[in-house]
Amino acid sequence: MTITTAGSSAADIEFHYDLGNDFYALWLDETLAYTAARWDGIARDEPDATALPRAQRAKLDHHLDLVGARPGDGLRLLDVGCGWGAMLEHASRDDRVAEAVGLTISRAQYEFLTARALPGVEPRLESWEDHTPERAYDAVVSMGAFEHFATAGMTRAERLDGYARYFEACHRWLRPGGRMSLQTIAYDGAADGSGPVGEFVGSDIFPGGRLPRLSEIAAACDPYFSVVALTASAEDYARTLASWSARLLRAREEAERLVGPEGYRRYRRYLRASEVTFLRGAATLYRIGFRRRAEPLRLSV
Ligand SMILES: C[S@@+](CC[C@H](N)C(=O)[O-])C[C@H]1O[C@@H](n2cnc3c(N)ncnc32)[C@H](O)[C@@H]1O
Repeated sequence: MTITTAGSSAADIEFHYDLGNDFYALWLDETLAYTAARWDGIARDEPDATALPRAQRAKLDHHLDLVGARPGDGLRLLDVGCGWGAMLEHASRDDRVAEAVGLTISRAQYEFLTARALPGVEPRLESWEDHTPERAYDAVVSMGAFEHFATAGMTRAERLDGYARYFEACHRWLRPGGRMSLQTIAYDGAADGSGPVGEFVGSDIFPGGRLPRLSEIAAACDPYFSVVALTASAEDYARTLASWSARLLRAREEAERLVGPEGYRRYRRYLRASEVTFLRGAATLYRIGFRRRAEPLRLSV
C-alpha cells in the first residue's frame, strides 16, 4: 500500500515513531500522549507520576471542549495523526464520543492500536491526503501532526498550498456546523529552524518536518473555517519536555538496552534542546478551535 504525503514521508515517520513502542512507553506517561500536556492548575510540586497523566488528560478534555463535545453527545470524531491512541482511548471511555477514527502513517502505531481493539475506535494506516470517510464527521481533532504536513525544502507558497489542502479536506469531511481543533508547534520570533538546534532536530530526530508560522495557518484556514479560540503556551511544551527528560533519565538502563547508548544520548539531547527552544521563545505551541464555514469563501491564500 502506498501512503501519499506532500509532507513528512512514511519513511521519515518510521525513522522517528517506529523506534519501538516499548522505548516510547518508557518515558511517556500511561496515556502514551506524545504532544504537549496542559498544565493549568497543576502544582509544580505534584509528583510527576500523577501530574503528567493529569495534565495530558486535561489537554485531551480541552480539545473535546474545543470541538464542542458535551456529555451524552455521542459524536463521530476523526483524530488526524492519532499516535498511540491517547485521544482515541480517552474518547472511547467518554459518552461525548461514540465513534472515533484515527489516522497514522506509522506502521508500529497502527499495529499497536489494532491490537488494543478499543471499543468504537477504528485505527487506519493512512495519510490524511488519502482519507475518504464513508460518512461525515461531527468533529476533527489533530495534535502534533501538522508539523509533518510540510517539509524543510518547501517554499512558503508550497507550504500554504499544502496547509490549505488540509483545511479544505477537513471542510469536506465535516458535517455542516462541524467543529475542529488543532494543536501544533510553530515558529515564533524570527526563528525558522536554521541554527544548530534546529538542524540537529531536523536531521537526527524529525527528518522531513517543517514547523508552520501562525500567519500561514491563518491564511490557509480562512476560506474554510472561522477561528473561535486560540491559545499559545510555550510553557506547556517546556514543562512536558522537562517531565519526559526526567522520566527518560530515570529509565536510562532500560532505554539503553532498547535503543543503545547512542540512541539514549540522542533522545536526551533532543528533549533538552527542544525544551530550551520553547524557553527561549523561538517556538511556541498553539491550540486552535475552528468552526466550519457553511460554504468556502473565495479568498486567495
Ligand atoms: C507527535 S505524534 C502525535 C500523536 C498524537 N496526536 C498524540 O498527541 O499523542 C504525530 C502523529 O502524526 C502522524 N502523521 C504524520 N503525518 C501524517 C499524515 N500525513 N497523515 C496522517 N497522520 C500523520 C504520525 O503518524 C503520528 O501518529
